[in-house]
Amino acid sequence: MTDRRSLAAGNWKMNGTAAALSELDALIAAHGDTRSELLLCPPHTLVERMARAADGSALGVGGQDCHWEETGAHTGDVSAAMLKDAGATHVILGHSERRADHAETDRMVRDKCDAAWAAGLTAIVCVGETLAERESSNTLQIIRGQIAGSLPDQATGHNLVIAYEPVWAIGTGKVPTTDEIGEVHSDIRSTLERRFGAGVAKSVRILYGGSVKPDNASEIFAVENVDGALVGGASLKAADFGGIVRALDGA
Ligand code: 13P
Repeated sequence: MTDRRSLAAGNWKMNGTAAALSELDALIAAHGDTRSELLLCPPHTLVERMARAADGSALGVGGQDCHWEETGAHTGDVSAAMLKDAGATHVILGHSERRADHAETDRMVRDKCDAAWAAGLTAIVCVGETLAERESSNTLQIIRGQIAGSLPDQATGHNLVIAYEPVWAIGTGKVPTTDEIGEVHSDIRSTLERRFGAGVAKSVRILYGGSVKPDNASEIFAVENVDGALVGGASLKAADFGGIVRALDGA
């Protein structure tokens, strides 16, 4: 174990209306004294209501994206300051679905990260290779490039979390082997060390994401340099997410 506090983060993606908040009570009741940090990132429409419902509990709330500017003529976008104002403490940035659906580049993710930090949010920056990139043995090179381009210089263990999410493992039920996960996480740690120094590299949490479920969580969390998970589908139900939190607490 390390002194990094493990983190179980849920990404609800474009799922959930007010009715889904009923899942919170069960989650909070079952995991009030968890060792791990708990975070749910609902759609923007639920951030404020979820933050109110979770107020005073072990559960934190994050956004799923923000614009790189604080205000302005950007119809449909949300700023980091708005998320903070709604009660968020974190924001997911550069998720592969945003990189694909909204043509987000590393440069945009870096600017969003700056905006998140200026608003006092912790950025969860996502990186990961496609299946074609893995099959052509380019995984580490791709991820080093994403880290180099997507992170501003002022990273710390407090303002930054990295999520390694292989694109081909998201929502597919396919998961890399524990060796493959370990190789990438260790390479991310070394990449952070070269850029930010050993102190920062040691303190930044690196999450694994992509088809994490209660029944595969324990073996993933046993991998060195895996400090938690960014969970999609299995974060929508308290029972499933709770199983993952228990696995993390026991890791
Ligand atoms: P799944 O857990 O549904 O595979 O999604 C992972 C993910 O994209 C989390 O951000």
